[in-house]
Amino acid sequence: MFPEKLSRTAEQVQTYLDQSISRFPEGSLRDAMAYASNGGKRLRAFLVIESAKLHGISSADAMPVAAAIECLHAYSLVHDDLPCMDDDDLRRGQPTVHRKWDEATAVLAGDALQTLAFELVLGANGFSADVKTELALSLAKASGAAGMVYGQALDIAAETAETPLSLESITTLQAGKTGALIQWSACAGARVGKANPTPLREYSNALGLAFQIADDILDIEGTEAETGKRLNKDADAGKATFVSLLGLDGAKNQAALLVEQAENALSAYGDQAEVLKEAARFVISRRN
Ligand code: IPE
Ligand code: IPE
Ligand code: MG
Ligand code: MG
Ligand code: MG
Repeated sequence: MFPEKLSRTAEQVQTYLDQSISRFPEGSLRDAMAYASNGGKRLRAFLVIESAKLHGISSADAMPVAAAIECLHAYSLVHDDLPCMDDDDLRRGQPTVHRKWDEATAVLAGDALQTLAFELVLGANGFSADVKTELALSLAKASGAAGMVYGQALDIAAETAETPLSLESITTLQAGKTGALIQWSACAGARVGKANPTPLREYSNALGLAFQIADDILDIEGTEAETGKRLNKDADAGKATFVSLLGLDGAKNQAALLVEQAENALSAYGDQAEVLKEAARFVISRRN
């Protein structure tokens, strides 16, 4: 079953992250980094490891890269939850970092998780300097002012926009906010395996969008116990989402179509890509 596969990877990633963070000087910064990077589904790490496997790269070699994207993702969540952003108190079933410590610690733990991501990529033993440079450069692009941070900026701006966003604008917003890191994760396998990234890029474009649509649906239909975060936030904040634009049924149909697209994009890999196809189906059936 897919959830078991995902949680086996999650355990290995957790161990690797705990070890990596334990090397830093003791104190609340390190504690907050460990806390913020704890838990989660580890979908992005899973995409790194499975896409690498598809190109003959071992999980052990891919692990630093998988842990790196989880650090980057954890940083994005810590900052996303801050009072000046989404102002959330609950994340992964626990108080958010700024609630458990304070805002300064949350900002700094996020900063340090971001730089740790690059440290892990560039320190990965299994790959040549060229491959690591390519990974780090692409991670910087996926994370920054044309990627995740850009999507976050559009998301915040949409809260106070005079007119609702168009479908096209929401697609751009979500491709940055959520899509960019998911795309980077799935394409990492092609990068480390020096393979053509096109099928994985097409797969992850569709997957990333489906993932964020599912997040928006869960914001309405999920429970706090399942998702570990406060819900109905998007509507309360007047956030533009696929659900606000297409309605619940429209958003579900769109997500299902995207999953089909994601699966089709991997047809050239045949049966070998089955686990990534399962991941695509999981993304819209998940309850957390
Ligand atoms: C939540 O991401 C934030 C979004 C980008 C929508 P996940 O749902 O992957 O969060 P975790 O890592 O499993 O907690
Ligand atoms: C968060 O999106 C995206 C990033 C952190 C990049 P959301 O604000 O929708 O995520 P949740 O719902 O708080 O997890
Ligand atoms: Mg947000
Ligand atoms: Mg949020
Ligand atoms: Mg959300």
